[in-house]
Amino acid sequence: MRRHDVKLFLDTANIQHIREAAEMGVVDGVTTNPTLISREDGEFEDIVREICEIVGGPVSAEVVSTDADGMVQEAEKLAKIHDCVVVKIPMIKEGVKALHILKEKGIPTNCTLVFSANQALLAAKAGATFVSPFIGRLDDAGHVGMDLVREVLAIYENYGFETEVIVASVRHPLHVVEAGVSGAHITTMSYAVFEKM
Ligand code: G3P
Repeated sequence: MRRHDVKLFLDTANIQHIREAAEMGVVDGVTTNPTLISREDGEFEDIVREICEIVGGPVSAEVVSTDADGMVQEAEKLAKIHDCVVVKIPMIKEGVKALHILKEKGIPTNCTLVFSANQALLAAKAGATFVSPFIGRLDDAGHVGMDLVREVLAIYENYGFETEVIVASVRHPLHVVEAGVSGAHITTMSYAVFEKM
């Protein structure tokens, strides 16, 4: 694990917020989803391209298909928008198939909606570049979300998986602290949480 290189991502599609944070030199990437992009003015592809140009690092753009073939077709289109695009794939059976196909095609992926260590293990084995455990939503349901992050990191370390862990569904600055203490590679957060930091 690269412990010297903590990365912070913004979980937003708001160009102004991304620009402001990027000017501070502390933003390594961005995660988006269809809901976040729908809140902004402009065409989907133009928004994704502009975010890529601002951050110059991994920018997750999500598919909406629920079958592997559809996800792969969308992924191929998304990957053409910019070299920084990472295709966000949901953790469902068809998603795992798509992760495997996209690994073969050399298209980077972020497996999202991960709620268990076994899901993270499957994502890594299928070849995901990134995996996103949803910490806040686990906390909401009465679990300790950060326990999942620690389990996933231990499993990846044991077996030498190169998949990087993005701590996602972050609700407050303490989640960012806990992610740092756990040694997770990346934390993605809303601009509101970033400002509170
Ligand atoms: O990073 C994942 C995020 O977009 C979803 O978070 O707050 O809806 O659980 P939330």
